[in-house]
Amino acid sequence: MARIPKELVDHIIQTADIVEVVGDFVQLKRKGQNLWAPCPFHNEKSPSFSVNPAKSLYKCFGCGKAGGVVQFVMDVEGTSYVEALKYLAKKYAIEIQEEEKTPQQQLEQNERDSQFIVSDFAKNHFHRLLLNSEEGMSIGYGYLKERGLNLSTIQTFELGYSLDSWDDLMKAAETAGFDKKYLEKTGLTVIRTDDQGKDTGRRYDRFRGRVMFPIHNISGRVVGFGARTLKRDDKMAKYLNSPESEIYHKSDVLYGLFQARQAIRTQEVCYLVEGYLDVLSLYQGGIKNVVASSGTSLTEGQIRLIKRYSDNVTVLYDGDAAGIKASLRGTDLLLEGGLNVRVVLFPDGDDPDSYIRKVGDQRFTEYIETKSQDFITFKTTLVAREASNDPVKKAEAIRDVLHSIAKVPDAIKRQVFLQQTSATFGIDEQVLITEYNKLVKSPSQQSKPSGGSGQGDNRGNYGNGAGSANTGYPPSSNPRSAPAQRPMSDEEEAEMLMYGGAEAAESLGTAFQSTKAKPEEAEETPDMLQVCEREVLRLLVLYAGREIEPEISVAGYLMSQLGEYPLQKPLYAEMWEICRQELLAGRFPDARLLAQNEREDIRQLITDLATERYEISPNWRTKEIYVFNEVDLPQLACDNAVLRLNKVHVQRELDQCLEKLRHPLDDAEMFEILGDIKRLKELDNELAALLGTVVARGA
Ligand code: CTP
Ligand code: MN
Repeated sequence: MARIPKELVDHIIQTADIVEVVGDFVQLKRKGQNLWAPCPFHNEKSPSFSVNPAKSLYKCFGCGKAGGVVQFVMDVEGTSYVEALKYLAKKYAIEIQEEEKTPQQQLEQNERDSQFIVSDFAKNHFHRLLLNSEEGMSIGYGYLKERGLNLSTIQTFELGYSLDSWDDLMKAAETAGFDKKYLEKTGLTVIRTDDQGKDTGRRYDRFRGRVMFPIHNISGRVVGFGARTLKRDDKMAKYLNSPESEIYHKSDVLYGLFQARQAIRTQEVCYLVEGYLDVLSLYQGGIKNVVASSGTSLTEGQIRLIKRYSDNVTVLYDGDAAGIKASLRGTDLLLEGGLNVRVVLFPDGDDPDSYIRKVGDQRFTEYIETKSQDFITFKTTLVAREASNDPVKKAEAIRDVLHSIAKVPDAIKRQVFLQQTSATFGIDEQVLITEYNKLVKSPSQQSKPSGGSGQGDNRGNYGNGAGSANTGYPPSSNPRSAPAQRPMSDEEEAEMLMYGGAEAAESLGTAFQSTKAKPEEAEETPDMLQVCEREVLRLLVLYAGREIEPEISVAGYLMSQLGEYPLQKPLYAEMWEICRQELLAGRFPDARLLAQNEREDIRQLITDLATERYEISPNWRTKEIYVFNEVDLPQLACDNAVLRLNKVHVQRELDQCLEKLRHPLDDAEMFEILGDIKRLKELDNELAALLGTVVARGA
């Protein structure tokens, strides 16, 4: 194991800026002291991953991953500690004096590292052959030049050439001291088997006489290769690719992303093409924010990769029909991933590579900018044209488009698309909406998971506090009114669709238009409730004995506001009960006292609560961000916590009502539910007003 001296380790850690390092993998947005992003370690839509630049720490409140800058690299790249340090050293151009090691020693570092190293060796070998060997220069380099690529592009992408030989790479690797098992594991050599599939013991190079395209992972390490033959032989596959290996998971890699990622972030769009050559030509033409799916349909992993850098994808399709059809499939996944998808179609027979070479960089860029269409619009026009004269095909085509529309997470956009689709197909919008509803109601099409499951019974225990909100509760601050216009929530939209649009909304009076507490996307994450409950507990144990008014302690106040059993999470509920008993016994349930509790989990919770620095949780998605000094203003803090908890309960009930509306109901049931909804929305608004809610939409 290579040892990096302690001072150098310290130096690397001191130099590395965690914001920069993490920023290479996710889009960080500043909120308060910290920066936030969707977690790179688990799949989520709302950010619960945070970086504290001052402390140089990261933490995900969703999956719990946390640590410093080195740990982050280890986690995100799946590397060892030493590899992570090297990665950082490389990023900050810090030189690590490595002891002389034999290739054999290097290999022993670990299996994965070994495979990275052998891939890197092969990449360098191929690159050297391309630029220095006679065969490489005349055949490989000659070909790339003919395709219009210059040396700088070839170097940026580390292109290479494999000699037309059965064992050139094997020999070179052997001379350099590599264990051949790593060549096998990475698929650089092929194990020859007999008819029964048994290993014959013979080996040969997989890539022979081909131009080599190294495939990099996000941190720039080579994980595999694409290889193009230069022979005009129909029986031979034009491209040959490395097989899956421990280091190469095809579904999690996009060709060109390593080179494109900064540009994707700054341009705020990712161009998606099919082929290696498309990436190279565009990159060389100054369009650097381009990646390739390498001819296969997109995977969720690849989409998550793109999403680390941008929410916008523009798909650049080949002009031929087959290409379009094939690519249409992957595109629904993009929509589902919440990406904004646009499409550019090239003239028949052209792909991005041939087109940019034909018209030049300038006109190519203009073409993309002027010709890009929203994906749904594109798809609608396309299938409408194909199906124009055949009613059966037409119905099929419409359903196809509706399927795509259902994948769009934004409600307003869905609405617009539905209108547009009805216009394009010349179909009554109502009919289309009916079709759409059938589709989204069928279980296979669940467009969004309904949050409330597993909630258990709702015992209406918000009643207490909500009531108190009405009984002369002091409005804690300036209720900023002005219910801003806002997009419909998913539920509301579903209702509009089901109950005939505008009239339904009207019949519910103002209730729908003035819900200002629920901004777009503010579906509670399931742990919103827990966050609120925890906050109440935290105030309880931290300030139990503080007087809010003469004779009224924080503990007493909270108990009177929330009733006897306000908390659902079992541990919290138990804790609350312990505190209540303490209070009944005439003692204040403060942290010092509770820290003596016999139960380990209670003690742990107390310590956590008492040491938690108050920080506005990322789960406060409604963004009624309140900054005040809770030590000086305990009542305000309590009021806030109570109102928020109540609000969560109201919203949960609302969700349940809306969920019920999705099922078939008779009129009486429906009106009862609509009545409940109206009441709940009013309550919700009241709570919002009391909270002085400011909905900073889109912030
Ligand atoms: N591809 C592949 N295997 C094949 C054919 C294609 O993996 N047998 C992938 C490659 O990633 C290729 C992409 O699909 O880049 C697009 O294929 P194609 O359009 O045929 O290749 P181009 O990149 O356009 O290559 P060229 O222009 O050199 O023919
Ligand atoms: Mn091509």
